[in-house]
Amino acid sequence: MATLLDGKKLSQKICSTLKSKVEKLKDKKPGLAVILVGDHSASQIYVAKKEKTAREFGFYSEVHKLPSACEEKEILNLIKYLNESPKIHGILVQLPLPAHIQTHAILNAVSPLKDVDGFHPLNLGRLFIGDPLFIPCTPQGVMELFKEYKIELSGKHAVVIGRSLIVGKPLAHLLLGQNATVTICHSKTKNLEAVCQTADILISAIGKPLFIKNSFVKEGAVVVDVGINRLNNKIVGDVDFENVQKKASFITPVPGGVGPMTIALLLQNTFKSFERFSS
Ligand code: GUN
Repeated sequence: MATLLDGKKLSQKICSTLKSKVEKLKDKKPGLAVILVGDHSASQIYVAKKEKTAREFGFYSEVHKLPSACEEKEILNLIKYLNESPKIHGILVQLPLPAHIQTHAILNAVSPLKDVDGFHPLNLGRLFIGDPLFIPCTPQGVMELFKEYKIELSGKHAVVIGRSLIVGKPLAHLLLGQNATVTICHSKTKNLEAVCQTADILISAIGKPLFIKNSFVKEGAVVVDVGINRLNNKIVGDVDFENVQKKASFITPVPGGVGPMTIALLLQNTFKSFERFSS
């Protein structure tokens, strides 16, 4: 039976450390601004959770909600205001944005010095060259789990399923930085099951409930499930946890695995940004 990679526990440890640092601050607090455009139901839940957690751990937090029909210019004006606001050290634009908005133009407008999501081209470029400033939160959270559980990555074959900006692409770079041999799979990959069977580290970020079956997994592999899916009114990951846990050496649960790590790393990035602005 696999050992659980307990993201709930590790995220609480990270957040408690941050809270005690925030409590020691005299007058100013680290400030996070979240922009939510439209009524994407999962995004509403994620943003509410980010705001609640930020407040719980002593951060200042603002959520700016804009209607889905809003113009790109309105979002750009808001970002300009937040870029200049001394109360704000981290700006996050929740994705996905409505189809009529050019996501790249929006991400490009966030100051790279407040880009706690790490999605600005400058921050992605810095990650690519191996000199990161802000690292996207979910991939960073996955790497923190590997570190906490002393999972060796050097020379291992890591298979990442999913090539998104939010998870797959940055995570592949982080794994490469730790000397893993990395394969990125996606919707056009041939023989996905066979590729997955060669993985020492298997990471799924595709958003398909229970897609990764026992047969995809090599005996003793480390399995990380980034998926958060609703199935019959229950939250499940991309991995068929019940069966795969019998074969894996380590596995993340859903919920309680990668999800809470994303928020912990968001607060950590915001705190680091605050320190940088204060020094
Ligand atoms: N949508 C899903 N995950 C994320 C995330 O980590 N950051 C942002 N901005 N949007 C998301």
